[in-house]
Amino acid sequence: MTWNASLYENKHSFVWQYGENLLEILSPQKGDRILDLGCGTGHLTDRIAKMGATAIGIDNSPAMIAQAKQNYPDVQFEIADGTNFTFSESFDAVFSNAVLHWIKPPEAVINCIWKVLKPGGRFIAEFGGKGNVREIVDAIASTFKENDELNQLAANSWYFPSIGEYASLLEKQGFEVNNAMLFDRPTPLDGEEEGMRNWLEMFAQGIFSDISSDKKEEILCKIEEKLRPKLHQNNTWFADYRRIRIVAKKV
Ligand code: BEZ
Repeated sequence: MTWNASLYENKHSFVWQYGENLLEILSPQKGDRILDLGCGTGHLTDRIAKMGATAIGIDNSPAMIAQAKQNYPDVQFEIADGTNFTFSESFDAVFSNAVLHWIKPPEAVINCIWKVLKPGGRFIAEFGGKGNVREIVDAIASTFKENDELNQLAANSWYFPSIGEYASLLEKQGFEVNNAMLFDRPTPLDGEEEGMRNWLEMFAQGIFSDISSDKKEEILCKIEEKLRPKLHQNNTWFADYRRIRIVAKKV
């Protein structure tokens, strides 16, 4: 997956705007050391820093980190793999918004988080939970099924766990799970008529690799046609997001 940092900045600001709410749960205190795992272009890392904490943002996309550094030159950002990162100094909290559905295996991510937290440190995260973007995934899958020559499905690469599944992984690692929620968050997409296309181009780009531009246009139209009755209202496209939100502690 190659991230287009400017498409993300310009058309998908809802990603970090919804994360603001998660910051209230994080409630950074002056002097806290907080890791923002999968920081993207850095907006929430900067918010954490502005609340008085020492914030460090990591992301595995060089394009996202370059944009984050440009956006916030005074905040520390580093390129790092979410399944294999270490820090010499530990953290009071690890925060992650709208990212963990991209990183597999989850056990490796959880293990890295555990290792970088201080005893008593908190892990606060929100990402796609079981049933996330189900209508979109089904429309992609059925469209691909109708086209024998297409068989790569980006949706296979996402990880959308249930509460039971994810809480079990955390407990296996040693975390105490203090709060876990799974809830619907239908999310309006920027761009009016172009909203679903923009979303697919940004987040499901893998399904279009190796497809000619004519074929891609045909596929996009079919997916839109299937989704329109379900996810298009009053000139706006919606993504059928379902979030899992986790608050856990290293005990
Ligand atoms: C999400 O934020 O839930 C999401 C974003 C892109 C692809 C899949 C899920």
